Amino acid sequence: MAAVLDSVRAFFAHSIFTIDAENAGDVVARETLLDRAMGPNRRRKSSEKIRRGRVPAEGLALVARDRDGHVIGTVRLWNIEAGVNADGTAIDALLLGPLAVDASFEGKGVGSALMRAAMLEAKTRGHGAILLVGDAPYYERFGFFAAKAQHLVMPGPFERSRFLALELVEGWLDGAAGMIVPTGRMLTSAPVRRAA
Ligand SMILES: CC(C)(COP(=O)(O)OP(=O)(O)OC[C@H]1O[C@@H](n2cnc3c(N)ncnc32)[C@H](O)[C@@H]1OP(=O)(O)O)[C@@H](O)C(=O)NCCC(=O)NCCS
Repeated sequence: MAAVLDSVRAFFAHSIFTIDAENAGDVVARETLLDRAMGPNRRRKSSEKIRRGRVPAEGLALVARDRDGHVIGTVRLWNIEAGVNADGTAIDALLLGPLAVDASFEGKGVGSALMRAAMLEAKTRGHGAILLVGDAPYYERFGFFAAKAQHLVMPGPFERSRFLALELVEGWLDGAAGMIVPTGRMLTSAPVRRAA
């Protein structure tokens, strides 16, 4: 992770923003940004069923920061099983989302930088494919297409034309069919302190 982010940082050294790993101190700023960018219904999406109560995939919660270090963009990826292949073997993959950028920074390449850093980090970590639900005209530029996810379904209502996939390893999703199932580690609540 450090190597990928170092190269991303070097690339953006003279830029108005940097890409960084999310840390615990970013959570409030990230949630505020998501509320503003995606509105109050964001927690009702089918993708949210995959994320709820789980932690993101290892090393795959990223933020964009402005020059003062404030969070101006966020993207996270989640461990899933993307159905099964022709042999009936479950296919490990990632679900990306939400991706959001602070409105005052839109159109400056922040979203693209988050996407490219996330895709590079996922590939470096050995993941084979990324799925997402989003606007095809935006995500197609990164190589995401509906055809790769055509026999897969989300656990809840979704628009087929917005359900997209990218193979990081060629052929990873060949024959993939069935429902997306979350496989990420569960969030653990803080330990309860008991009096001796
Ligand atoms: C979508 C979003 C993440 C893009 O971030 P960004 O930093 O503005 O994106 P970039 O600067 O990297 O790219 C801008 C380009 O994407 C295009 N674009 C942005 N949103 C788009 C969309 N929904 N559909 C098609 N193209 C889109 C812009 O027109 C621009 O095109 P150009 O390069 O030809 O000028 C940001 O607008 C956002 O947070 N939107 C609200 C939340 C959201 O919709 N999240 C994605 C869920 S689908």
